[in-house]
Amino acid sequence: MSNGFNVPEKVIYVCTGSKCKKKGGKEIGKTLRNLIKDMGLKGKVEVVKTECTDRCDFAPVMSFQPDNAWLSYTTEEKAKQAFQDHIIHSDKTV
Ligand code: FES
Repeated sequence: MSNGFNVPEKVIYVCTGSKCKKKGGKEIGKTLRNLIKDMGLKGKVEVVKTECTDRCDFAPVMSFQPDNAWLSYTTEEKAKQAFQDHIIHSDKTV
């Protein structure tokens, strides 16, 4: 955790409630964190873990903000594609 109150430009909310966690959500979150690090986007893009978002039937669930793009039944492939679409190539530049 950093010392300052950093406000990132983009946030990926990853549900790590019990259902999503069981279906791999936490690992996908880790993959996204590594992508952020590898692409030098630390501080600009952040992965935030959330509790259950009440969409357990669609687990694992995550959302990319500010695009408000929600993923259901998320796989690593889907998450990486969404990262390209909503973080790298989104209208708002990082
Ligand atoms: S545990 Fe993720 S939506 Fe319920």
